[in-house]
Amino acid sequence: MPFSLDGERLEGRADDTLAAAMLRAGVTTFTRSIKYHRPRGPFCLGGSCGQCLVRVDGVPSLPACRVELKQGMSCERQNAPLGLVDRDLFRAVDFLFPGGLDHHHLMIQSRLLGQISLEVARRLAGLGTLPSRDLLAQQGSARAVPLVIVGAGPAGLSAALGAVESDSGGLRPLLLERDSKPGGTARLFRDAERAIGRSSAAPLERLGDRVELLCDAEVVGLYSDPQPEGDALLAVRQEARLLAVRAHRVVIAMGGVSQPHPFPGNDRPGVYAARGLLALHDQTGVRVGEGAAIALVGVGDELERCRAALLSRGYSLAACVSLDEDEIVRVRGRPVAEIQIRARPRQEPSSAIRKIRCGAVAVALPVAAQHDLASSVGARATFSASLGGFPLEVDAEARTSVAWIFAVGTAVGRSLLDSGVSGNEATAFAQKAGQAAAVEAKQAAALAR
Ligand code: FES
Repeated sequence: MPFSLDGERLEGRADDTLAAAMLRAGVTTFTRSIKYHRPRGPFCLGGSCGQCLVRVDGVPSLPACRVELKQGMSCERQNAPLGLVDRDLFRAVDFLFPGGLDHHHLMIQSRLLGQISLEVARRLAGLGTLPSRDLLAQQGSARAVPLVIVGAGPAGLSAALGAVESDSGGLRPLLLERDSKPGGTARLFRDAERAIGRSSAAPLERLGDRVELLCDAEVVGLYSDPQPEGDALLAVRQEARLLAVRAHRVVIAMGGVSQPHPFPGNDRPGVYAARGLLALHDQTGVRVGEGAAIALVGVGDELERCRAALLSRGYSLAACVSLDEDEIVRVRGRPVAEIQIRARPRQEPSSAIRKIRCGAVAVALPVAAQHDLASSVGARATFSASLGGFPLEVDAEARTSVAWIFAVGTAVGRSLLDSGVSGNEATAFAQKAGQAAAVEAKQAAALAR
């Protein structure tokens, strides 16, 4: 499937995202950072990090990892003068100001020079340039349902099961999934799931047509509906369409987002989230690193899960680095071609730096709870150092501080991926939440009649 990038004709495949097609074509620098013009490539491959923004058919700053490739698409990389993304002269800023560029105090000794530098800074600021044409108004539609579950991963499916098997029979929840298939992490880690006797297909089969499943449906806004007060209003994007959904109760089961790890060079093209690589491969068959073995770094269960899952997708590992034992000194190359590690100080006497050649670096850290949507309407989320993020606060019935929002799974720090007791408890918790939300949704629907 032909498309163009910066005027050059490239080939992608049906089912590719734009990011997959670019990586398939060997393009790893997708854009430049705004201030220092450092090269940037995709990290999360799931629409959350913003490192892959590309201009597509005249529309700026679209995440290439979420844009479906279409025949004849015209794409441009952003934030580099003259379109020279691979040889951006403004990269010199980083070297001219090794201590960092404080644009607030640049050339303030002279009024004239200060104004000039301000003008230059204004012209350089921003992500891309405005659309080259007026965007056409998109089709929209509206509907009302008693209960919406956001996310069809293991937690969302368990909540849906709880809802349909609750006393409030007859209620058919609307299950929204932003990916093209349900299953979430259960699909990524299917081997790990099988090993602990679970299957992503099982809840789906049990649900049958008792839920309405809408895939490729991303909730982009959540509001408290003033009419009637206390209900939810969701803005849902399905490709180019916008769907407005009113609901009495909402269950948030959005999982988590991949996090970077702080080490020198962690923003270079060629450093990816391990989960992103798994999803990329499953959706498009693309493996990064041009056939070379990759380095995997991370901690705990997530490291082990990702190691097994990457191997099962045909990756070979140049190194599997536990950050509990080793630290990353730096990575080198664009895209990354070498990782340097050394034992943590407590592992004395060895502090020698080991240099390992690799085609890419994959980061496998516990994901951060995706709380933003619920937080945007006031649901409380508190920082947890052990979970590495801001899980939503919930009571014993999974109710957040907003009466009509329930939350389950990783969004509340209860991952269903855990084997053993905590995973089973998280599953039971999600089912109970689905039950409670369904009962209340049904009562609210009866009151509204
Ligand atoms: S948003 Fe596309 S790679 Fe993160």
